[in-house]
Amino acid sequence: MKDRIGQLMADVAAAEFSGEDEVEAFRVAYLGRKGKMKDLMAAFKEVPGDQKRVLGPMLNALKQAVEDKVKAASGVSASKVKASGLDATRPSGGVPLGTHHPLQVVRREIVDIFQNMGFAVAEGPEIEDDWHVFSGLNFPPEHPARDMQDTFFVERNPDVLLRTHTSSVQVREMEKREPPMRLIMPGRVFRNEAISARAHCMFHQIEGLYIDKDVSFADLKQTLLHFARCFFGPDTDIRLRPSYFPFTEPSAEVDVYWGLKTEVDKRITKGTGWLEILGCGMVDPNVLEANGIDPNVYSGFAFGMGIERITMLRYQIGDLRHFFENDRRFLNQFAGER
Ligand code: PHE
Repeated sequence: MKDRIGQLMADVAAAEFSGEDEVEAFRVAYLGRKGKMKDLMAAFKEVPGDQKRVLGPMLNALKQAVEDKVKAASGVSASKVKASGLDATRPSGGVPLGTHHPLQVVRREIVDIFQNMGFAVAEGPEIEDDWHVFSGLNFPPEHPARDMQDTFFVERNPDVLLRTHTSSVQVREMEKREPPMRLIMPGRVFRNEAISARAHCMFHQIEGLYIDKDVSFADLKQTLLHFARCFFGPDTDIRLRPSYFPFTEPSAEVDVYWGLKTEVDKRITKGTGWLEILGCGMVDPNVLEANGIDPNVYSGFAFGMGIERITMLRYQIGDLRHFFENDRRFLNQFAGER
């Protein structure tokens, strides 16, 4: 038995392989279920005790030699792969992660600010009817105010249309709820406009609505000032300019003070230092009444802003079309933003 082990030791030492298959065949021949080691172990059981003390370590050494050989041979084949120009040890490139879309980043931030003030999120359908987009918001039929927003009608039916503003969600929520209500309503809107750097046929708005007893214009102004300071920085100033919307009275447009330090500041603020960010006003009593809320008991304010516009200001993006092209060179610039 001693000789048999000695012979196998020599065989193992001399073994050579020219491929992965041969290494595996070698391993099976020695260590497999019907392999040479198995036979030796069977024979080992039969030998007298004193010989076991000598043969035991020899058997262990043989097994170890086979294992080392197999291990080394695998290394050889890896280095063959290397020689072929493939580097199997090179770390993989990793799976690239997606990024949040800048509109999503800004939408979330705006919603967060209002949620912290106790506003709840509400959403409504993109395909609407005349009542929710216009009539329920005090746009009389044939009123020129309807021309403020070029509407996409679906299937030539004047009562099936794509919403032109998120104010439609105000109407839906007033139908559903009793005051007090404090809501923030993000969503996509559509207008039949020529696509350019400054206009698109679809964009996103965030609408706010607060209805309760004794809601005043001062509440509106303070709420918007707080928002502007959270979003644009603690020293931000705002100003309100009188404006017109059919569903609010009085109405205003809100500007933030942007500054006039650089040439870009001068260009984007048209030399004034101020930038318009949203429209707002006190909910018109006609709107409350049309939606079943008693204007003698309740008052409210509403506001609406374009997410694209605010995002362009925040990141100094010069062309609205970037948002809808999904060019990864553009989107990857927002990696890490959340
Ligand atoms: N819906 C208006 C727009 O699309 C914005 C607005 C909302 C104005 C709420 C006042 C109150 O321009």
